[in-house]
This record gives sequence, C-alpha cells and structure tokens, in this order.
Amino acid sequence: MSVSDAFDEWARSGKDQGMEERHWHTAKHALARLPAESGDTVLDLGCGSGYAGRALRETKDVGRVYGVDAAPEMAHNARAYTDDPRVAFAVGDFEHLPFDDDSIDHCWSMEAFYYAQNPHTVLDELRRVLRPGGTFYCAVNRWEEHVHSHEWEELVGVPMLLWSEQQYREAFREAGFAVAGQDRIPDTETEIPAESEFPTEDWETRAAMVERYREYGTLLTVGVVPE
Ligand SMILES: C[S@@+](CC[C@H](N)C(=O)[O-])C[C@H]1O[C@@H](n2cnc3c(N)ncnc32)[C@H](O)[C@@H]1O
Repeated sequence: MSVSDAFDEWARSGKDQGMEERHWHTAKHALARLPAESGDTVLDLGCGSGYAGRALRETKDVGRVYGVDAAPEMAHNARAYTDDPRVAFAVGDFEHLPFDDDSIDHCWSMEAFYYAQNPHTVLDELRRVLRPGGTFYCAVNRWEEHVHSHEWEELVGVPMLLWSEQQYREAFREAGFAVAGQDRIPDTETEIPAESEFPTEDWETRAAMVERYREYGTLLTVGVVPE
C-alpha cells in the first residue's frame, strides 16, 4: 500500500484525530521551542490533521502556515478543522515542495519524516526552501535506538526509515544544516496501568511501556540553515 493510500484511509475513518491527540503529548513541548516570531511563515511537513499549524497561529502569532501532506483526505480534513485564512493546506510530496527558494522561515514535522522514500533529497529540498537562519524541527517517535518502534513498519504496512540518532545528525549536516540540538522528549501523559494489569493486549511488561513513553518518547533533531 502507498503512504497516501494508507493515510487517506486513516483520515476517512477518523484516525487522524486520535493521532493528533497522541502526538500532542510531546509535540506541544517541541513546538513551544520553535523560535518562530510574529509574522513568520512556517511549513508543516506531513501535516496530518493540521493541529501544529493551528497551535502555532494561536500561540506564536505566526503570519502564515502551510501544511503539506501526500494524502488528499488528510489535507481535506485539515482544511475542515480551521477557518483561519492564514493557514493553508496542499497535497504534495516532501521531495517537491511548492515553494520558492528561501521563502520559509521554519519547518516543523512530527512523525512524518521517516516515511520519506529519499530522505537526503527531502533534506536538500528543505535546505532550498528555508531562508538563512531558518530552522527544521524534525520530531519522530520511531528511530533505531527506540527498540519498541521497530515493529511499526509491519503494523502500518508501508516502508519506513529507521535511522539512528547519529544518522539524523549526520544527514542534516550533509544537507548543509548546522545541528542546533537533539534530544528525547518524554511522553508523560499516556496512561500506564498498574503493574497488576500486565501483560496487556499491547504490552508484555510495564517496564517496557514505561521505557517506550517516559524514556524514549519523541526524538527531536533541530537543524539550522547557516546565515
Ligand atoms: C503519522 S502521520 C503524522 C501527521 C501529523 N504530523 C501528526 O503529528 O499527527 C504522517 C503524515 O505524513 C504524510 N506523509 C508521509 N510521507 C509523505 C510524503 N512523502 N510527502 C508528503 N506527506 C507525506 C502522511 O500522509 C501522513 O499524513
């Protein structure tokens, strides 16, 4: 199945909103760090339901947000969740962004980058559209060190990248970004049942679930375009 077919199906069945709710646990902390200023233009790469753009407009008064997603049904839902004329959504691919060179101040991406077929091409494309001093905030819940995320490719049924933390940093540098930081943001909100409830349908042990949410959480890598 293609990525866009898979996520169109998610959007049609309302799973985009459950995804938004889960991702918000850590996305809100990463978004709070995004150094966007009033009037800035922000790109949300693989925007899903578009919650990040809505939040950025409310909390940071950014001038414009563009969400890009390969799945038409996702973009359709995202449009329906806001009437803000300064938030727009386009169907498109990470590798061919419909923006001029140096036209975007910041790019945000949550749980989307590892679906890239050619991740180095995507980084080159971001480097092209971001202005000098612009940033790429790349948040993922699946990566090499996070052992509990390895089985997701099989569960979702689409190809997924599995880079290590170092591979993210190296690829960013190779594309011409400076790496301003990389850290794990714990999810402190997903409820973890008492020891006596384990094993559950999804988790063999409580320790594994604690590790998944409270220790690994979300990996955030921040790239900056040199001035
Ligand atoms: C797991 S969802 C995450 C959505 C949202 N960022 C969130 O945090 O809930 C990944 C999204 O990335 C989109 N996507 C995956 N590969 C893409 C590509 N190559 N170009 C554009 N969008 C893509 C999918 O259609 C999907 O909506």
